Amino acid sequence: MNFILKTLFKKTLFNMNSDQLVIALTKGRILDEVLPLFGQAGIVPAEDISKSRKLIFDTNRENVKLMVIRGSDVPTYVEFGSADMGVVGKDLLLEYGDEGFYEPLDLKIAACQMMTAGPVNAKPVEGRLKVATKFTNIAKKYFAKQGRQIDLIKLNGALELAPLMGLADAIVDIVDTGKTLKANGLEPRELIAQISSRIIVNKASMKIKNALIREILGQLGDAVDKK
Ligand code: PRP
Repeated sequence: MNFILKTLFKKTLFNMNSDQLVIALTKGRILDEVLPLFGQAGIVPAEDISKSRKLIFDTNRENVKLMVIRGSDVPTYVEFGSADMGVVGKDLLLEYGDEGFYEPLDLKIAACQMMTAGPVNAKPVEGRLKVATKFTNIAKKYFAKQGRQIDLIKLNGALELAPLMGLADAIVDIVDTGKTLKANGLEPRELIAQISSRIIVNKASMKIKNALIREILGQLGDAVDKK
């Protein structure tokens, strides 16, 4: 079977059935906050996700399955329709670009801020600023808007080390409590965006599975309002 046929076959099996909905959840911190919200909306995994190595789970609703994946993969699964809906941080949506799907609901969980940060009491940098981040698109856009020339340094984690070790003058990262910055001699500077978890929906699924998706969006919206 060639690749296209295989893909179509899988889609038919998993989620092109208009009665069946696949929701991709972001694992980690967001998952801990999202499961209680889904519970209130009447969607409960059939087994304890935290105790399983499985990646796709049945729920108490026969027609709803939950996938648990890295946040950075959620937009991809939803854009290409392998998942109908997804839960993902606005940070990753800003980084990925939000053209490929709808973003109908702010779950108002996992709230934090996208910020620039730099060493405490550092002198202003003249000339090009060296900025380390894993959010390269967000950083590029932000500094371009400020008319500021930067050299971008792409890292995949532990960004706070970059100024400390002389690799960068500043970082662009998520700030929640601010403790990680403080522990590494950094201070928050400019606010780039307020971040929280969002529901995204595949564009075709929104048409084909409209009734079911609207029902679930309504239930999740009510759960968010009750918080
Ligand atoms: C995020 C972020 C900071 C930290 C901020 O990292 O990159 O390092 O949280 O939180 P705080 O303001 O409460 O200290 P995370 O733990 O999500 O891991 P990551 O480096 O893999 O992104």
